[in-house]
Amino acid sequence: MRPQEIIEKKRVGRPLSKDEIDDFIDGVCNGAWADYQVSALVMAMFIRGLDQAEQDELTRAMIHSGKVLDLSDVGRPVVDKHSTGGVGDKTSLIIAPVAAACGLAVPMISGRGLGHTGGTLDKLEAIPGYSIELSAERFKELLAKNGYAMIGQTGEIAPADKKLYAMRDATGTVPCIPLIVASIMSKKLAEDLDALVLDVKTGTGAFMQTMPDSLALAEALVETGKSFGVNTLAVVSDMNQPLGKFVGNALEVYECLKILRGEADESMHPTLELSTELTARMLVAGGLVNSIEAAKGTIGEVLACGAALEKFRENVEVQSGDPRICDDPEMLVCKDLMSVPVITETAGYVTGIDTRTLGNSISEIGGGRTKAEDRVDHAVGYACSVKIGDEVGVGDELGIIYCRDHDQADRIINRLQAAHTVAEHLPVKQNLVRAVVS
Ligand code: URA
Repeated sequence: MRPQEIIEKKRVGRPLSKDEIDDFIDGVCNGAWADYQVSALVMAMFIRGLDQAEQDELTRAMIHSGKVLDLSDVGRPVVDKHSTGGVGDKTSLIIAPVAAACGLAVPMISGRGLGHTGGTLDKLEAIPGYSIELSAERFKELLAKNGYAMIGQTGEIAPADKKLYAMRDATGTVPCIPLIVASIMSKKLAEDLDALVLDVKTGTGAFMQTMPDSLALAEALVETGKSFGVNTLAVVSDMNQPLGKFVGNALEVYECLKILRGEADESMHPTLELSTELTARMLVAGGLVNSIEAAKGTIGEVLACGAALEKFRENVEVQSGDPRICDDPEMLVCKDLMSVPVITETAGYVTGIDTRTLGNSISEIGGGRTKAEDRVDHAVGYACSVKIGDEVGVGDELGIIYCRDHDQADRIINRLQAAHTVAEHLPVKQNLVRAVVS
């Protein structure tokens, strides 16, 4: 079938067969489908949806678009975590070294920023010299030696997702359960995992904004993982405000280093809390400990004795980054930036933060991409000065924009101010972990 016939079939809402999905994924990888045809089909899939059989076939085709690793000889339980995407969501940079220091192998295949959300690969590239491009062989070698390594989808591993991910980012076609499931699981199921922990975000900064939608995504991901024989569970976590203090690539690495160095201030505690929760579940799923409490104890020890920071340093070194950032995190904070405060004109309690608008605003000043080929400005970002439930007075600071010039600040400052709702009543406090699906 020609691409346009497959596009037309989905455009009118008919289910695609296994062969048609295989044709599509082959065409994505070998260039037989033009970019405009790929985006047209993705948009048709987004609007018309995919049934269970199509979702499973798409996932399978995307996994097998590249190599499936054999990690049976790394000598440790192989466990990974993946998030569905949030704002200020930087836990991977803490989880991987902590889990490796506890004895797991973490083969992290991550993504770049997607939509209004940040991506682990962009954060890693904020580290001077850091390379996320490793051959499958080298990736395996580092895993066995150091317990973790971080890469993106490559020409070898999950190549279909590499292409589709960038295209969905630039065409507004991310928040669709079957597309998210196929994207995430094609990377994760190529990793030969013993277990997988998913962090499904819910709220204003998530792709799925309501609990029912987030639970549906969590269930679809867990089902798919299990159907491929991987012990999979999902934590649904709150994304109604940025996680921790900073949003923006270099600033988020800075926050992670402060946590790994035991220097986190209170505004960074949610990042540590969620990282600990997810890592604890990885340790239990990987069979290293038999309770979440015991796992949290072990995690506390590897953080306190500096073993997790040393794992991070080891990883930065072997992936060609500058390890001096581990001793001097301030190196990550660009000295040429302007800092512009966002002020509230209302007194009361912060009852809501439109986290999607916040993420989009930082993307707009260079922290993310408008087109797939755009270069990211790793330095720009935002520091949250308030959390939901905080009391503020007129003229108090809601946050600080870190930007290149006044023009950038002027473009987003009003939107950032309006993204905060300040009201007379105290809001209901949400737990960071909203549900667990297993
Ligand atoms: N993370 C991914 O890897 N893919 C998605 O589609 C969304 C989040």
